[in-house]
Amino acid sequence: MSIKDEANRRKTFAIISHPDAGKTTLTEKLLLFGNLIRSAGTVKGKKSGKFATSDWMEIEKQRGISVTSSVMNFPYRDYQVNILDTPGHEDFSEDTYRTLTAVDSVVMIIDATKGIEAQTIKLFKVCRMRGIPIFTFINKLDREGREPLDLLEEIEQVLDIETFPMNWPVGMGKRFLGIFDRHNKQFVKYNGNEEETYIPYDQLDSPEHEELVSSATYQETSDELELLDEAGDDYSLEAVLKGEQTPVFFGSALAPFGVQTFFDTFIDMAPNPTPRKSTDGLVNPETEEFSGFIFKIQANMNPAHRDRVAFLRVCSGKFERGMNVKLARTDKLFKLSQTQQFVASSRDTVEVAYPGDIIGIYDPNIYRIGDTLVEGKDSFEYDELPQFPPELFKKVTAKNVMKAKQFRKGIEQLVQEGAIQLFRGYPMESFIIGAVGELQYEVFEYRMKNEYNVEVMLESMGERIPRWLKKEQVDTKLFDERNLLVKDREDEFLVLFKNDFALRWFEDKHPKIDLIDLFEVN
Ligand code: G4P
Repeated sequence: MSIKDEANRRKTFAIISHPDAGKTTLTEKLLLFGNLIRSAGTVKGKKSGKFATSDWMEIEKQRGISVTSSVMNFPYRDYQVNILDTPGHEDFSEDTYRTLTAVDSVVMIIDATKGIEAQTIKLFKVCRMRGIPIFTFINKLDREGREPLDLLEEIEQVLDIETFPMNWPVGMGKRFLGIFDRHNKQFVKYNGNEEETYIPYDQLDSPEHEELVSSATYQETSDELELLDEAGDDYSLEAVLKGEQTPVFFGSALAPFGVQTFFDTFIDMAPNPTPRKSTDGLVNPETEEFSGFIFKIQANMNPAHRDRVAFLRVCSGKFERGMNVKLARTDKLFKLSQTQQFVASSRDTVEVAYPGDIIGIYDPNIYRIGDTLVEGKDSFEYDELPQFPPELFKKVTAKNVMKAKQFRKGIEQLVQEGAIQLFRGYPMESFIIGAVGELQYEVFEYRMKNEYNVEVMLESMGERIPRWLKKEQVDTKLFDERNLLVKDREDEFLVLFKNDFALRWFEDKHPKIDLIDLFEVN
């Protein structure tokens, strides 16, 4: 098969949701379709107990599970499916966001009983800014949930995206009868078990379906459906692929119901790998030369060897184990031989990979997040990965002042690796670490101690609102602990405002100073 054919077979996506909406349950069902697991209940594990704070070994053990399952791949019909996990719960970190830079589409799960929740909004916004196509699965239809129209309205308003219901539920909870599959023009009947009955629209008036069709719930819903056909948004694959419209599927991951139809429809519609922006313009997946970028580095998977694994998304060409590649940042050539592919329960060596695939490469401490690897003489770099707004800020100091050198070295390396974001106080130097989740601090603390032999103290500064300043407008007298002046890794100035009020007060008082919000998402 040519590189083009292989690329066109790839469907690489992430599933995003708020904790408890049903991501694990749905993922499990998809793995069953792919014959990756034989029975439900295999993927679980992350819930099997909480780890003690700062007990990194335990985190490792926990993560051991989430790492091997952080990329799942399997053949399905004519496709090669790659599902990337987006850790939530206490594992939420910048990695969760960065994973979204490595996928071609996203499945967003919404709990029908709750509607849109905080974590969904955050991840959704990243997708929206990057124009990633979003497919919505509204879950838990077997329970009494909110009205479908209500849920669609909420998606449209809160997330500012058009919706197109691919199917429409008839009743819910105890009255749940099934769905109108608008896309395939059939009624999918819920029998209260795993068996689904498919009735093409034109056969619904046959006598055997009379009981169903004459029920009040069915009648009401058909009226609603007519309204939807007339007044709803038109379906547009073009808008979907631009991330402007989201096809919505209703179902139940647990029952399971509507999952097969959802997956079959989704997988046909979801985009294959598309060209990516680089310093050389758009790079086509079909290009002969292999290229890819690193979006995540997992350190200390094996504490005894201190090795790391860099997760690389293949963007063009064909990867073959042992091939020579160039690290674009340094222009150094080397051989890529220690590579892994991630399957649900084991890590196999990967021999070949194509655009859309994710491979794990052994990292002897040379890679950084965002690095591009290319085959051939001419190197280029893929667009830099965006920085995501930290929500937590902590001041960090070394417990033992004599360890200043190791302290700096450790911080520098962890910043380069993308494990944390560093801000330096100005003019009095202090170190402030920004993160999106507590886990990042736990990992930071543990690694500083174990890899650099430095015990650190972290002092919370609470949530802060970062705003950048132009160099020429910086006046150190205007700032204090409340509105703290710091520099970022590029030596640009920014202020960490204590809260919204402090920010507004400053803006009123100093209207001539431009405050710039540099983060892609807020
Ligand atoms: P997550 O990965 O997004 O955090 O969610 P997960 O799949 O673990 O599901 C969260 C809870 O919701 C689980 O119940 C799960 O069984 C339930 N659930 C998922 N899909 C459906 C559905 O379609 N209908 C209903 N009624 N429930 C659903 P739990 O009691 O928290 O966990 P467990 O003890 O069942 O494992």
